[in-house]
Amino acid sequence: MTTSPSLDQALADALRRNEALAHRNESLSRENVRLAAELARLGESERHFRTIVSTDIADRKKVEEELRAAEERFALAVAGSNDGIWEWDIETNRMFMSERAQALFGVEIGPTIRPRAEWRSAIPLHPDDVESQIDMVDAYLLGDGQSYEGEWRIRQPDGSYRWVRILGLCVRNASGRGTRLAGSVSDIDARKRAEGALRQSQRMEAIGTLAGGIAHDFNNILGVILGFGEMLAQKTKRNPGATRDLSYIMAAGERGRSLVERILAFSGAACVEKSPVNVERICQETMALLSSTLPGSVRVAEHFDAGSASTLGDATQVHQVVMNLVTNAIHAMPAGGVLTVGCDLHQLHGEHDVATGTLPAGRYIQLKVGDSGTGIPAHIVSRIFDPFFTTKEQGVGTGLGLSLVHGIVREMGGGVEVETTHGKGSTFTVWLPDVGVEATRLPEVRTALPRGQQQRILVVDDEPALVHLATGTLATLGYRPLGFSSSLEAVARFEATPTEFDAVLTDERMPLMAGADVIAAVRALRPDIPIVLVTGDPSGPGVRRAMDAGANAIVGKPVAARDLARAMADALAAQARPDGPA
Ligand SMILES: Nc1ncnc2c1ncn2[C@@H]1O[C@H](COP(=O)(O)OP(=O)(O)OP(=O)(O)O)[C@@H](O)[C@H]1O
Ligand SMILES: [Mg+2]
Repeated sequence: MTTSPSLDQALADALRRNEALAHRNESLSRENVRLAAELARLGESERHFRTIVSTDIADRKKVEEELRAAEERFALAVAGSNDGIWEWDIETNRMFMSERAQALFGVEIGPTIRPRAEWRSAIPLHPDDVESQIDMVDAYLLGDGQSYEGEWRIRQPDGSYRWVRILGLCVRNASGRGTRLAGSVSDIDARKRAEGALRQSQRMEAIGTLAGGIAHDFNNILGVILGFGEMLAQKTKRNPGATRDLSYIMAAGERGRSLVERILAFSGAACVEKSPVNVERICQETMALLSSTLPGSVRVAEHFDAGSASTLGDATQVHQVVMNLVTNAIHAMPAGGVLTVGCDLHQLHGEHDVATGTLPAGRYIQLKVGDSGTGIPAHIVSRIFDPFFTTKEQGVGTGLGLSLVHGIVREMGGGVEVETTHGKGSTFTVWLPDVGVEATRLPEVRTALPRGQQQRILVVDDEPALVHLATGTLATLGYRPLGFSSSLEAVARFEATPTEFDAVLTDERMPLMAGADVIAAVRALRPDIPIVLVTGDPSGPGVRRAMDAGANAIVGKPVAARDLARAMADALAAQARPDGPA
């Protein structure tokens, strides 16, 4: 067997230098053969021995190749998966982190192996997540829990936070203690945000349902208060003391009604009547109202340049927008500062993106409320319009202010924009479509109420007090009502004597048999009888069903005598025409 030149050379060198004991060399001379040589001299003798051992290493090479292929496969899989890989040697307390892992962990890319403490201090975990992450690692290493898995937030260089998912598995020694922990880190920010958006829309839906429920019950209660109040007002005309007391009751009832409308406004369920609103005037009125409550340390700078430009909406709602923005601005300046409030006109020549959507080109009234306060940290700006999002202490803020502003402004076809600098202050700009100059409103002419001629009216409402109120009002108006608080009983009576009645007044939402079903049953026997529907939710699905079933007119709750008188008279008049009810 020939040995490799390097081995021969090594032996020759050893002989020349007359080395005392042994020289060992090893070389891979050929494919799959490992040669090892040893040169030895026996004692003081001049004789040398050369031992050469050759070993077949085909198996070892195969294993090495397989290992290299596996490593390549692993590297490719890691690169392809877009995840980061990390490994913690718990015994040396050093950690490996792939470059992708470093990027996902928000660390400046550098050496992949570093002491664990160095990684820990470099990874900008969200302060609220630090404890839960440490607890989870500790528990997992002690043997609690099947796997190490969690979702945490990492701060980005721009101050915002991104969500990552960390997964790990550990190798344990005989006593069950973890000696190595390795795993992956993946970017799940898009998924988390989509989940957040879904949660928000579900939350909005839940609030809308809640608001609808409140509106229904509340309107019934208000209906009783305002309706009986109105009736009582007729009877106490000659008693100034009673009239004054009653006016307080009525005013409180009206305030309650406007509160219900406000609750509905942000869920988009309100059906407020829109009319041109002079934004600048409302803004000035609100400021005048607030001026006495402003802290002395706050200086107000006003600039009004929009004149009498108007937007289509509701004055109370515009007032609410201003109130909420100004209140937030004042809260943001606990040590005082400058509050800027103003109105301007602005022409948009193309689409414009604002925090709450995209505005089409056109003329807008810009309402600006600015402060020189705390500013809004970058990581919460995207959430301030969420319902219930607040950074204020419990009991101080509900987090509904800006979501209400958003809801109202969106309904008016506008948008809201926020500019903020941490520590310097914020400016909220509300864009409202300019519809020209407010028309001078004609004072409402109080005409006499249309009266009945003793027609027989079937009245159905599940709330006995409202049945009482409606029958009382109808009687005052010159009708002969017969009331039921059970829709089943009302229909049974109608079926027994269908020709007894000249018209029907029915509530929409009732247990067992809803308004639409009452109407269908009545229509089956008397196709042309006038039917007036009473509802607390004019835009709800029940109204559509009732209209489809054949209602001729709708009266909103709480029922005012004036509205009921007109609706009933109109329905009866339409029926009297040759072409029947409308
Ligand atoms: N001008 C501002 N300056 C700084 N932060 C603001 C400003 N306006 C709003 N914010 C932030 O947005 C959050 C949400 O505001 P929003 O008006 O919806 O609720 P709130 O003021 O906390 O409670 P509420 O209005 O129901 O009393 C606030 O808690 C605050 O963190
Ligand atoms: Mg607020």
